[in-house]
Amino acid sequence: MNRVIEALFAPLWQQYLAITPSAGAIHRLLGGGAPIVNDHIALRGLAGSVLDLQALARPFLAAGYRFAGDYQFVAKKLDARHLQHPDVDAPKVFISELKLHECSPQLQTIFARLLAQLPAGTEQRLDLPWAGRLWQLCQADYQTLADESEYAGWVAAWGLRANHFTVSVNALGLSLEAVNERLRQAGFALNTAGGLIKGSPAELLEQSSTVADLAELQFSDGVRTIPGCFYEFARRYPQADGQLYPGFIAASADKIFSSTDRR
Ligand code: NI
Repeated sequence: MNRVIEALFAPLWQQYLAITPSAGAIHRLLGGGAPIVNDHIALRGLAGSVLDLQALARPFLAAGYRFAGDYQFVAKKLDARHLQHPDVDAPKVFISELKLHECSPQLQTIFARLLAQLPAGTEQRLDLPWAGRLWQLCQADYQTLADESEYAGWVAAWGLRANHFTVSVNALGLSLEAVNERLRQAGFALNTAGGLIKGSPAELLEQSSTVADLAELQFSDGVRTIPGCFYEFARRYPQADGQLYPGFIAASADKIFSSTDRR
């Protein structure tokens, strides 16, 4: 993997690790000191705004990534695409965006207020994917957004950052069942929406994930503990051409989104 790509993922990882202590603990548990291969990260944006999928993709496109699959999540009002790099060792990037215009007028009004706080030219920043939260947010607005859409609440609260990183289970040489069992024995809570394992060998991709770590967040009117980021585990299977399937399964991703729901 070249240095340009490493320079994109290093700050994303440090930012993620700072609020996701379970990720560091899982690294030590599964890697035992050896490096863990990152299958993909996921980013969350807002369609119809300067923080849309295209703006989040820009730094990756500049580093040689190309758009590959696209995915729709009708009930959640999300669209997504994934990007991959000609270097198959480079992590894939899954970017989704909430279709604001399909949401309630109340939700749109709150986001208009948040987005009005962005400095001009924000969308051009090459560090946009890890720019963090660029607005002040009060607890009542967070509550209103999250009650309508957990995704909307998460984006408003956490801003621009990796929503999750993903352990390549292939690189561990274990089955996903074995990984899940080790995590459960170590006391990590896993997302059971749609079953512990989403997808199947027939679909060429199996995924599981932790539920998001809870983290303290500073709102404009106080501190509150809310779901932050989670860790995902992916096992890919070879396609007819012998290469590992590089895409995603919409039905599985739909359940993975639930990993950041309030509990
Ligand atoms: Ni994922």
